[in-house]
Amino acid sequence: MAKALGGVAIVETPAALAAEATELFVRSAAEAIGDRGRFAVALAGGATPRGLYTTLAGEPARARVDWRRTWVFFGDERCVPPTDPESNYRMAWETLLGKVPVPSGQIFRIAGEATDAARAAADYEATLRAVLEPGAGRCDLILLGMGLDGHVASLFPGSPVLEERDRLVAAVETRAAVVSRRITLTLPAINAARRVLFLIAGAEKARAVAAALRDPASPLPAARVHPRDGVLTWLLDRAAAAALERPATT
Ligand code: 6PG
Repeated sequence: MAKALGGVAIVETPAALAAEATELFVRSAAEAIGDRGRFAVALAGGATPRGLYTTLAGEPARARVDWRRTWVFFGDERCVPPTDPESNYRMAWETLLGKVPVPSGQIFRIAGEATDAARAAADYEATLRAVLEPGAGRCDLILLGMGLDGHVASLFPGSPVLEERDRLVAAVETRAAVVSRRITLTLPAINAARRVLFLIAGAEKARAVAAALRDPASPLPAARVHPRDGVLTWLLDRAAAAALERPATT
């Protein structure tokens, strides 16, 4: 089993990715609670994390996390109601949060239903700053997926929000195929985390993974994730790592 402490860890299958991610999640939670008395995690949306969330909601993993000392945030949200099939909150609730005893006052949902998305983004930022380390808005763990185009959370290639230096949360209009209006953590928020864990599976991601990891100057959003004072782990299945293992073409 790959030991993902930082850097790139490659496992054989999506199931192994969920198992390895579960171990990292459990260890991050134990470390944060041991050091600071609580674990603040931002969940990723999309499909890839479903395997992790389902594993965490079941035994034995469920009993290995102190859910009552866990604070749950979201890396991004589609601008839809929480009951919408496209809602990241709904996916997290159905696969994990509805099955573990995180106190409801410790689950901080992004108000995707808000008509004023910019206001909802500002409100979420105020919550992050108030609830997390005063003013810093620093999570212990941020989970991220990556799109085929190298987007992370709802930060898409070419987006002006990629240049944001101060705000932690922004409302964005994206070219996402699924719900283009989004609310997302910005790079300052992501890069403030103690640990960032990418969960990436599937051959269709291989080109973007190689582009982001091989070229430090890559403009891809995924290449801009570098925790300032934290650990970055790319957890990949063999298919998503395929282009990494091929010699770079000139
Ligand atoms: C979202 C996610 C997004 C996702 C990637 C990968 O709201 O869709 O935040 O950034 O992580 O698009 O999605 P898959 O895991 O479904 O490939």
